[in-house]
Amino acid sequence: MTIHLVDIDHVGIAVEDLESSVEHYRTMLGVEPVHRERVEDQGVDEVLFAVGSSFIQLLGAVGPDSPVGRSLATRGPGLHHVAYRVRDVAGALDDLSAHGARLVDRAPRPGSRNTLIAFVHPRSMGGVLVELVQTR
Ligand code: CO
Repeated sequence: MTIHLVDIDHVGIAVEDLESSVEHYRTMLGVEPVHRERVEDQGVDEVLFAVGSSFIQLLGAVGPDSPVGRSLATRGPGLHHVAYRVRDVAGALDDLSAHGARLVDRAPRPGSRNTLIAFVHPRSMGGVLVELVQTR
């Protein structure tokens, strides 16, 4: 077993209106945004708030045909995914594969903050979309 979870990297929360949600989080939870990024290949605008060594990640859809846009249309706003920080995403995918997990990404791809990421299908994780994050 080479998979090794280092930390919770972030919880991803899909929101309809990114700017008003940022204000809501600032007001309700007293957190300040530390990072903003558009991730083109995922069709999302994200805002991160640091909490300890982890982040809250608010996700706004760039368009209705993006994954988050489709999630908002079918499930509405709310918890979208949980991201675990790992040392080695490729190795973690190999391990999960060996255990029969259904993978969204067969290989790591670039994420925000210059990370490497991969998603694991919720059907293999008790209904939770799981993201693996490797910082580099
Ligand atoms: Co994420």
